[in-house]
Amino acid sequence: MNRRLTRNRMGWASGQLSPLNQLFIGYAARFCRDASSPALDLGTAYGAVALSALEAGCHVIANDLDDAHLAVLLSQLDDASRPRLSIRPGRFPREIAFPWASLGAVHASNVFHFLTGNQLDFGFRELARWLRPGAKLFVQAATPFQQPFAAFLPEYSRRLRAGVKWPGWITKLSAFSSHRQLSQMPRSIHLLDDGILSAAARRAGFEVERAWLYRRPGLPASLHLDGRESAALIARRPYTLSDA
Ligand SMILES: C[S@@+](CC[C@H](N)C(=O)[O-])C[C@H]1O[C@@H](n2cnc3c(N)ncnc32)[C@H](O)[C@@H]1O
Repeated sequence: MNRRLTRNRMGWASGQLSPLNQLFIGYAARFCRDASSPALDLGTAYGAVALSALEAGCHVIANDLDDAHLAVLLSQLDDASRPRLSIRPGRFPREIAFPWASLGAVHASNVFHFLTGNQLDFGFRELARWLRPGAKLFVQAATPFQQPFAAFLPEYSRRLRAGVKWPGWITKLSAFSSHRQLSQMPRSIHLLDDGILSAAARRAGFEVERAWLYRRPGLPASLHLDGRESAALIARRPYTLSDA
């Protein structure tokens, strides 16, 4: 399946599973087989990853802020998967909540770059609370190293050198780029990298297992820059969570 435009100008939902998506599915297939330990897919859109996790036998909670996206996911469910999926609409992190230590894994693919720094800090803290001790978080996000943001790179480097906490926040995207793909993006965007994601995860109490940059399969050629177009993070909720 090819990528598909979101209904709310939040970019495209990918139809092709990325390495990070697949690592999440492999993990969830081991640790989210029980209803007491479901996997949460944040910003699932039409649910390509959620459906694959269901096929792998997982219990899944699918979240998106757009009900119409979730309706498409529901329309694709087969009878075997239906009892293992629950739907949780709402804008992460403020509009959804889960009990302490109730989730077996969390996956957020191409959604964190729509959140502000404050939302990310609060969101990582919430995820650390919702995950079971030892359970993992899988994140994939857009970096500044994409062709449409090339004009932003000098400013990004300057902010990094100055120690800016969220150097990839762009209030008005059109000030840096007129790339035609960006007409399907919100006015502001928050480009992230492996270091920034790791720092945010650690502030919330996570142990970072791995963070890296890569080009995910299925990314349109017009976004290619230098092979660092996506950031990925895998982090573990420690057994003891300090009061982050
Ligand atoms: C670019 S799509 C990514 C879809 C899919 N996860 C993927 O990797 O292909 C972003 C999705 O995240 C949703 N979204 C954006 N911000 C969100 C938020 N704060 N909470 C929940 N969903 C959000 C959008 O509605 C959209 O469906």
